[in-house]
Amino acid sequence: MKDQIPSVIITGASGGIGKKITERFARGGYRLFLQGNRHMEDLHTLASTFKNTYHVPIHILQADVSDYASVDKMFQQILAEDPAPDVLVNNAGIAFFSLLQDMSEADWDLVMNTNVKSVFACCKAVLPSMIARQRGSIINISSMWGNVGSSMEVAYSASKGAINAFTRALGKEVAPSGIRINAIACGVIDTPMNHCLSPEDRQALAEEIPAGRFGRPEEVADLTWFLAGPESSYMNAQVLTLDGAYL
Ligand SMILES: NC(=O)c1ccc[n+]([C@@H]2O[C@H](COP(=O)([O-])OP(=O)(O)OC[C@H]3O[C@@H](n4cnc5c(N)ncnc54)[C@H](OP(=O)(O)O)[C@@H]3O)[C@@H](O)[C@H]2O)c1
Repeated sequence: MKDQIPSVIITGASGGIGKKITERFARGGYRLFLQGNRHMEDLHTLASTFKNTYHVPIHILQADVSDYASVDKMFQQILAEDPAPDVLVNNAGIAFFSLLQDMSEADWDLVMNTNVKSVFACCKAVLPSMIARQRGSIINISSMWGNVGSSMEVAYSASKGAINAFTRALGKEVAPSGIRINAIACGVIDTPMNHCLSPEDRQALAEEIPAGRFGRPEEVADLTWFLAGPESSYMNAQVLTLDGAYL
């Protein structure tokens, strides 16, 4: 029997956006299942801070989301603790800057497996329990480049475009089962993913954005929270752009 606390699974919880999504759901009183891969220490520190502040149950899991078997194993652990998760946030992902001509097959597979196969694997693992309860909400953290494409980021753009189409298609497939799936097409968000930019490049990029600044990870977290909850109950199979009017 599930206790009364709603639960959320967040992938990439140790990253810039993942941390803020985690905090938003901790503040909302959710039981948290947090996935990390390489930065497990960061995740443990984050978990103990939020446990002390918000007094919610937190479970930490290590998995490589690009690997189907690793995701499968993670979900066996999650479902053993909570057979009825309420929300899944597919946030883990990597950027890849390169000319297409300089990319290897292994580079392509890494981007596609991390950004797209992971979403397939996590959704497939969580859906049976959501379908059984006829409820659940899935949010995919995508990119504006999935809408329009970016030079030097062909693989990344293709991976996020795939997530957008996946979201629109799966939303139609699972809506009759009471499940919603939506995506956020983020613009430039101020996280470690963009720390490779020089101060001059950051400044130039911010000036190109009509809002005059990068997005904050908290703003992605607030929209994720909205998409998870009852205020968005009729919204399904949508890709919402959050880019400060950049595109
Ligand atoms: N920042 C932006 O401007 C921006 C714009 C559009 C979309 N997004 C999307 O937002 C999401 C979060 O990005 P972010 O900016 O927060 O980046 P980030 O700070 O680099 O965080 C990425 C997260 O993904 C996890 N991750 C990467 N590869 C993984 C793998 N193979 N297995 C498991 N976890 C893996 C990382 O975990 P470990 O470090 O523990 O491996 C980390 O927690 C991504 O999907 C990204 O594409 C970001």
